[in-house]
Amino acid sequence: MAFRASLVRLNRAIVYTQNGEPSQVLSALTYKPLPPPAPDTVNIKYLLAPINPSDVNVVQGVYPAKPSLTSLVDGHSDVFVGGNEGLAEVMQIGSGVSGLAVGDWVVMTKSQAGTWSSARNVGAMDVLKLPRADGLTEVHGATMTVNPPTALNMLTNYVTLGKDEWVVQNGANSAVGQAVIQIAASRGFKTLNLVRKRPDLEELTTKLKDLGATEVLTYDDLADRSLTQKIIKDWTAGKGIRLGLNCVSGPDTTSMARLLGQDAYLVSYGAMSKQPLSLPTSLFIFKNLTSVGFWQSRWYKTHTRDDKEKLMQTLVDLVAQGKLKAPEHEILTIPARDSDEVAGQKVRDIFAKIAEGQYGKKVLLKIESSQ
Ligand SMILES: NC(=O)c1ccc[n+]([C@@H]2O[C@H](COP(=O)([O-])OP(=O)(O)OC[C@H]3O[C@@H](n4cnc5c(N)ncnc54)[C@H](OP(=O)(O)O)[C@@H]3O)[C@@H](O)[C@H]2O)c1
Repeated sequence: MAFRASLVRLNRAIVYTQNGEPSQVLSALTYKPLPPPAPDTVNIKYLLAPINPSDVNVVQGVYPAKPSLTSLVDGHSDVFVGGNEGLAEVMQIGSGVSGLAVGDWVVMTKSQAGTWSSARNVGAMDVLKLPRADGLTEVHGATMTVNPPTALNMLTNYVTLGKDEWVVQNGANSAVGQAVIQIAASRGFKTLNLVRKRPDLEELTTKLKDLGATEVLTYDDLADRSLTQKIIKDWTAGKGIRLGLNCVSGPDTTSMARLLGQDAYLVSYGAMSKQPLSLPTSLFIFKNLTSVGFWQSRWYKTHTRDDKEKLMQTLVDLVAQGKLKAPEHEILTIPARDSDEVAGQKVRDIFAKIAEGQYGKKVLLKIESSQ
């Protein structure tokens, strides 16, 4: 766009105007510097913003939370700005805003904030100050509001687990799964972690055990009845597993649910296999199974600002204690010098690679503004 030749600080966002595959419909759009913030708003600069699986679903138009159309460029049609989660720095503060200072790190409390951008004006109540702590990196901050709270809430809101009690989860190598492993370990819970079979299974097992996983098995291992009997009887000393966390659904989750003991909760939070969840009726009748869904976005909508601050503080404390590592990641920097065409292509390319599956790393976008 013509703007990029000028000397002012120009911004850029990753946008779309119609739903579809991100590798097809996303483009980059340069827009003018932000005007000074209106009362009760702040201008923020995004430092890093992840690409989460739900972001793909939002762009596809199949996710319940939808972004609003935004006007970024005068005379240009309104666009949707991608990105729900991200870490930003406060740049300018409007009148009437309290509790925020220039330079503070903030995270989003409003969903679908359009975090795949270099800078935005946002309502002061739509962000939360992220306390700084030793060891807290930009990657931690940018991935702090979706996956770790999901893990923490699922581990604590349904069943009160005692020390050495077991949790079973599938998709255990996902970012949520890795947070589950670490938060469970920090509370003395044991985790049985299920992943897909893969050539580098040993390497993945070592990695998850280094994070604190007690056991790692593949979904295929659950076909071995003597092993599942051993898990149910010996590992849990007959007490039974009382919490199962479901990231993938499909038949592998049916097998996982059979590992659960009396009065257990199966908490579903993802459907990565894109298959429905089917559960034997006997689990409900004879084991009193409770099957529920968890959505962190709903948690944010139904909890107070104070609750959200406490949640962030709990997670930051875990980071500071070295008990919660950032997910394995790679950062895709979109430099200011790139044209919108080049920038858009880079973003579409990374989405095409992620869509191939088993990408293995969380990708974060760093969208630079020109100085
Ligand atoms: N409900 C909520 O509040 C909430 C919050 C956060 C996340 N989530 C959901 O949780 C899920 C994981 O998110 P994330 O950010 O942790 O993702 P992630 O780090 O990208 O991990 C994706 C996981 O899904 C697995 N997977 C992908 N395709 C699969 C398939 N066809 N069959 C079985 N497993 C498959 C991957 O295993 P491989 O390594 O084998 O590919 C990996 O374990 C997503 O569905 C996300 O939308 C929900």
